[in-house]
Amino acid sequence: MTELTSELVSELKARIRAGRAKVGVVGLGYVGLPLSLTFARAGFTVLGFDIDPAKITRLAAGGSYLKHIPAEAVLAQTASGRFSATTDFSRVRELDAILICVPTPLTPAREPDLSYIVGTGESLWPHLRRGQLVVLESTSYPGTTDECLRPILEKSGLRAGVDFYLAFSPEREDPGNAHFETAQIPKVVGGHTPACLEVAAALYGAAIASVVPVSSTRAAEMTKLLENIYRSVNIALVNELKMLCHRMGMNIFEIIDAAATKPSGFNPSFRGPGWAATASPSTPST
Ligand SMILES: NC(=O)c1ccc[n+]([C@@H]2O[C@H](COP(=O)([O-])OP(=O)(O)OC[C@H]3O[C@@H](n4cnc5c(N)ncnc54)[C@H](O)[C@@H]3O)[C@@H](O)[C@H]2O)c1
Repeated sequence: MTELTSELVSELKARIRAGRAKVGVVGLGYVGLPLSLTFARAGFTVLGFDIDPAKITRLAAGGSYLKHIPAEAVLAQTASGRFSATTDFSRVRELDAILICVPTPLTPAREPDLSYIVGTGESLWPHLRRGQLVVLESTSYPGTTDECLRPILEKSGLRAGVDFYLAFSPEREDPGNAHFETAQIPKVVGGHTPACLEVAAALYGAAIASVVPVSSTRAAEMTKLLENIYRSVNIALVNELKMLCHRMGMNIFEIIDAAATKPSGFNPSFRGPGWAATASPSTPST
């Protein structure tokens, strides 16, 4: 077998450019539902997948189960025929691209629980076909796409970078943040091969304002970890300083606001759940 032919790459890119590519989103939660609506708004036909039939029923009725996603936003896309959802994974065959947004909580041993990614891979591989793009978006350790997801998908007899495209693109959703919509948040993308990156970047570029290509799936996975670790460390720092300020009779918010006027080297963080001390084993990674 040869690497994905340049004709196959051009063909899928042309379908993306023309808005004719059919996009599947697996896991219709805080990340997957807004992502589905973003691609539908960009003119793509989107098919969502979830193992929770109650969510599928709610979406089919043009409703929402997420506080920050109004039912009208769902209805606008279901009524236009651009968005529908199903529990039937045999429909994976209809798709050009499959974006995986399933949970990755921590196990009781505080290790990433990959069971949802494994479960998704097992649901997908019997229905994969040559020329499709699969992108993992779930937060996980560097190596997850290559070491965990790829071997499961390859049970199909198809090979990543040879028969189908494989990429990782971390989700940066901040649910309820009115300042940033999914379509405006730059999308970091790393491919299993250069052709995989090319196709994945073309797809996201058709729906999202800016795409940031990196050299590999591992680099994209590590980028997400850096962002999350940076945030956790800084929230923990502010939590500690808040207690200190309280004891010293100062208001931490006054201090943060004043420090935030420094034009470089300081980004304000605010108190929050912080680092491991308060996170429960089932705390989802974000
Ligand atoms: N929520 C956030 O703010 C946020 C931000 C950035 C990254 N992330 C990451 O994105 C990923 C998804 O998080 P989320 O918050 O959307 O989770 P969520 O729990 O809101 O939604 C996940 C959905 O996946 C479905 N699901 C589980 N297993 C499935 C399977 N095998 N097939 C199909 N559907 C399945 C669930 O029923 C659920 O509807 C996680 O890795 C998370 O760490 C989340």
